[in-house]
Amino acid sequence: MTAKIIDGKAIAADLRGKVADAVHRLSRDRGITPGLAVVLVGNNPASESYVASKIKMTAGSGMRSFDHRLPKETSGAELLGLIARLNADPTVHGILVQLPLPSQIDAHKIIAAVDPAKDVDGFNPVNAGRLSAGLPGLAPCTPLGCILLAKTVQPSLQGLETVVIGRSNIVGKPLAQLLLAENATVTVAHSKTRELPAVCRRADVLFAAVGRPELVRHDWVKPGATVIDVGVNRVTGAAGRPRIVGDVAFTEVAQIAGAITPVPGGAGPMTIACLLANTVRAACAIAGLREPAFGQRPSDDRE
Ligand code: GUN
Repeated sequence: MTAKIIDGKAIAADLRGKVADAVHRLSRDRGITPGLAVVLVGNNPASESYVASKIKMTAGSGMRSFDHRLPKETSGAELLGLIARLNADPTVHGILVQLPLPSQIDAHKIIAAVDPAKDVDGFNPVNAGRLSAGLPGLAPCTPLGCILLAKTVQPSLQGLETVVIGRSNIVGKPLAQLLLAENATVTVAHSKTRELPAVCRRADVLFAAVGRPELVRHDWVKPGATVIDVGVNRVTGAAGRPRIVGDVAFTEVAQIAGAITPVPGGAGPMTIACLLANTVRAACAIAGLREPAFGQRPSDDRE
């Protein structure tokens, strides 16, 4: 059997189209143009490349893009000053501080300083708490994108066995909360989990978000399962060429899975599309308007 390849690029382009339509309507009917401020401290090459894509796609969807580059020696106080100005700026509806931050800055303090209403990353403890309590709020973009990708294969996740490998605040933990809100059965596995391959083999839908190149092998996957790969790992390939691989050994797992995301072209493009969607939702919420759902937030009927 060969798995269906889940085309994250095409699904993300479709979502960006819906975002652009919503931006057009907001600006035509309400005179509101959503604005996203992206803050990059230092010059980490991976971060520079992510930020460049975010800025390009923000402008491409008709939103305002505010680009803030700060030198790597910026102090926490200086960054807090910028966050305070962005919080107070009515043309800014979303604020994203690219992580990781240089070591002299306490990232937790910065994340906590972003106005929860503009926290389009969904990292502020207020939004993390709202997500775990099943209350409306902004949820992190990568997990939102993972759920949308899984739902292209399994439109209802209700009652399915799902396994998330990884427990980060950016992906694993919020993804587990979103899956619970979809009424899935959720296991969060991590580096200390015993019998990890056997735990993964239980999954109808397996999410890998650990940052370990090709960790998930074919015998970790139940035949026919859906596999969503969040990993972006730079490795040295044949002839010493740099190559990007996921957390899943794609070629061999594609022989057993029912559906699988490629890397690149799977979860990555969805993260940015969900960031744009969150910015529109934030702009609507700030203006007291009904928020477009973009298929993102499930109804919350838990027991
Ligand atoms: N660094 C890696 N992923 C992310 C993300 O989703 N948001 C931000 N702000 N930084 C990141």
